[in-house]
Amino acid sequence: MKICVLPGDGIGPEITAQAVRVLKALDLKFEMEEALLGGCAVDATGSPFPEATQKAALDADAVLLGAVGGPKWDVLPREQRPERGLLGIRKLLGLFANLRPAVLYPELANASTLKPEVVSGLDILILRELTGDIYFGQPRGIETREVEGVQQRVGVNTMIYSENEIRRIGRMAFEAARKRSRKVCSVDKMNVLETTQLWRDVMNELAPEYPDVELTHMLVDNAAMQLVRAPKQFDVMVTGNMFGDILSDEASMLTGSIGMLPSASLNETGKGLYEPCHGSAPDIAGKGVANPLATILSVAMMLRYTFGMEAEAQRIESSVKKVLAQGFRTGDIYEPGTKKVGTAEMGDSVLAAL
Ligand code: IPM
Ligand code: MG
Repeated sequence: MKICVLPGDGIGPEITAQAVRVLKALDLKFEMEEALLGGCAVDATGSPFPEATQKAALDADAVLLGAVGGPKWDVLPREQRPERGLLGIRKLLGLFANLRPAVLYPELANASTLKPEVVSGLDILILRELTGDIYFGQPRGIETREVEGVQQRVGVNTMIYSENEIRRIGRMAFEAARKRSRKVCSVDKMNVLETTQLWRDVMNELAPEYPDVELTHMLVDNAAMQLVRAPKQFDVMVTGNMFGDILSDEASMLTGSIGMLPSASLNETGKGLYEPCHGSAPDIAGKGVANPLATILSVAMMLRYTFGMEAEAQRIESSVKKVLAQGFRTGDIYEPGTKKVGTAEMGDSVLAAL
């Protein structure tokens, strides 16, 4: 069982360190190899996804990632930006299925900006397609050409999905729903975009193979609204790369803090990359205050999806529930009456609970 650890930038190294402690505490026979991805890789090698990292990622069964990016690298040409490293590893490993669960822990009901009765008991799985869509469509670029008689710069991105790409993520959505409340809501913009007309058609073609799962469709603007109006109507939401990026950030806040949400990105063989949904938070980097729970919960997802260790996954998840019940809170989820702790102390509490 080989794990490639990519701490990345900003708070990445701090939160990953706590997740690695948890992994080690399980005393399983993991081999871990650390490598560079993102801005730290740019600084060391000039590339956000150097060859050594590509090799380490290909060799491993699973990848644990902190976060990448920061203002320091925003001035670089696009190809050298940390984000390109992230997109590159997703593409190289074929990680087409991004699972982003949004679960509200009862102890955090007041941390959400929505009323407790709107979010209590919330348990949504957002399934985001991760290697297609406008993120990877060709042609792309900024070019100068004549438009309406004027020579000007034109920005181009191409939104593109093949039916096979839609079918494989669609199947994952139906399969996932079978293990949950058997409801799939497919999100598109078929009233405007042909790409997503195809998306809807393919989802409808798949539906008869899963008669035990209810399939509904929703336009993305309505879905964004429904997520804050009545989020508990959703079980599995499946959507493309771009809409999934946006809706998963929105859904994360229903749970109180994006600092709580793990994610898994899987390929067809079950190999996966596991990372928190949040970013590198450069404003609090190095201060020891970041919430490591999303990364720790990402380790639980790794054990579940890549290594098939359901019992160990649940052990980590119940430990996280326990520390919340004990009142430990990092700044992002703190409220008066609870115990404010830093990143390492939160890690200590999880280890103690474990
Ligand atoms: C995410 C992030 C990335 C994305 C960025 C950092 C490239 O927002 O994982 O949601 O857009 O996919
Ligand atoms: Mg995002």
